[in-house]
Amino acid sequence: MPLILAIESSCDDSSVALLQGNRLIGMKQSGQKEHTRFGGVVPELASRAHQECLSLMLNDLMRDTSTSWFDIQVIAYTRGPGLMGALMVGAALAKGLALSLDVPLIGVNHLHGHLVSHFVEQEPDEGIFPMLSLTVSGGHTHLVWLDSWLEGRILCETLDDAAGETFDKCAKMLGLPYPGGPVLDRLASQGNPGAHTWPMPQLGNASYSFSGLKTSVLYYLAKHQPNLSDCAESSLHDLCASIQANVVEALMKPVKHYARQMKPRSLGLAGGVAANSLLRSRMLALGEQLGCAVHIPPLSWCTDNAAMIAASARILLEQGVIHLEALGEKPLPRWPLMDYFRDLSSLNLSQKSGS
Ligand code: KG4
Ligand code: ZN
Repeated sequence: MPLILAIESSCDDSSVALLQGNRLIGMKQSGQKEHTRFGGVVPELASRAHQECLSLMLNDLMRDTSTSWFDIQVIAYTRGPGLMGALMVGAALAKGLALSLDVPLIGVNHLHGHLVSHFVEQEPDEGIFPMLSLTVSGGHTHLVWLDSWLEGRILCETLDDAAGETFDKCAKMLGLPYPGGPVLDRLASQGNPGAHTWPMPQLGNASYSFSGLKTSVLYYLAKHQPNLSDCAESSLHDLCASIQANVVEALMKPVKHYARQMKPRSLGLAGGVAANSLLRSRMLALGEQLGCAVHIPPLSWCTDNAAMIAASARILLEQGVIHLEALGEKPLPRWPLMDYFRDLSSLNLSQKSGS
């Protein structure tokens, strides 16, 4: 099994990792703090922070794991989707290393990284397919039907905000710090989810929408809590609990529908919002009810990290799908999962036919 060095820099987390087979030799990860005072990610600051810390993290990783540069056999990096400037920093570092060490380079789709994040330290087992997997992050919300590691289709996706973005925006309205998702989750544990009823979009099972919830919270606060500092602690807890319950119920509705209708072998949950305590417990309960395995990454692999990028590259290597012109590839700020699967299948076909 080749030793893979992976670099993740798609948004506001810088991370590097070394993976060999299913052994994670080491990982460094750092969430950027410079965005907190702006209440959201500032792209230019993200690029500069990646530039400042990625090489230092890489040196620390090599030193702490006693790895020699000459042991590295493959370089993997996040090619997209993400912020253009942030992606360019990771891509430049990855390409420089691949050129100087004369090893292959693999541009990984970040969303595929999330999809396989539960399998970093496991043998890729084909027995889990078909799998129904929900990816929920700050920028993406989609429910995917996976026939194999590299084939699938989207069953449901958001028409507007992503689930993580919704948590962050509602938390911001409640005066909570960025990123608001984890704080809202913590406060919700002490509140009453039934204290408020927020609108639930009636869109069937092919689309999510969270903008209605965001607007309702905005109007509610303007009317009832114009001065948030006067808001009693219990009232803040109830608001958090009811918002969380609404988002999780909306997310789970299509999952339940397709799980019952299409009978997958396993269920998956990935992305930063997979760290949400209520969502994790609902997904586990559904798996138990339907008698199917549930794959949820440990908390450290839910948010953006390089271990999942290495795991995705490992799967590509094992499936024999490698793009030989990777050094010339540009970062892709927009790179939908479906485009990625389609590109992979045409690459696979052309490699098999030897063209
Ligand atoms: O996957 P991720 O690290 O970055 C993107 O690719 O977007 O996801 C970050 C998102 C943020 O919106 C953050 O608020 C949310 O994940 N998040 C949570 C929790 N932990 C992180 N949302 C709800 N509950 C949590 N416990
Ligand atoms: Zn992500």
